[in-house]
Amino acid sequence: VTWDREIAQLPYDQRALAERAATACSQAYARYSKFKVGAALRIKGGGVVTAANVENGSYGLTSCAERNAIFRAVAEKGTDVRWTSIALVADVEKFDPAKPPTISPCGACRQVLNEFKADDNATVLFIKDGQFVLMTIEKLLPIPFYFKPWQQQSLNDGTD
Ligand code: THU
Repeated sequence: VTWDREIAQLPYDQRALAERAATACSQAYARYSKFKVGAALRIKGGGVVTAANVENGSYGLTSCAERNAIFRAVAEKGTDVRWTSIALVADVEKFDPAKPPTISPCGACRQVLNEFKADDNATVLFIKDGQFVLMTIEKLLPIPFYFKPWQQQSLNDGTD
């Protein structure tokens, strides 16, 4: 599933999640890059968990919005937490739904998102060239790293 659209054309639940990401974005600590990012995860079984990027004077210690959201979700809901969709919004102070800034999850965050996906059809909503792009995690990260061959199955069925 991949398509590019105006936000007004997206299903209501996706628009609502983008709104939550935009609110989270305003909490970003991005004093070095000035590039604020907000992420909102819809959690399997109910609820939304949000986060923003947090930078550091030692630049490499910066933590992205997506990973912060996953780690917050684990802290709040436990290790069995799984997400069914994520929305990303960047630079909320200049956020104009008619011309939103490009943002797509970095490679490291794709791998971390993969670990806690509800299934391969979990959706990722982000912005490219002024259009909202909605695609599956499987499309975004087709060949994830798995520690052991059995890991992929056990992640999905919740066994160890
Ligand atoms: N950033 C995120 O939070 N998520 C992404 O997907 C890409 C980049 C942050 C990290 C840094 O604080 C700023 O954006 C500029 O790279």
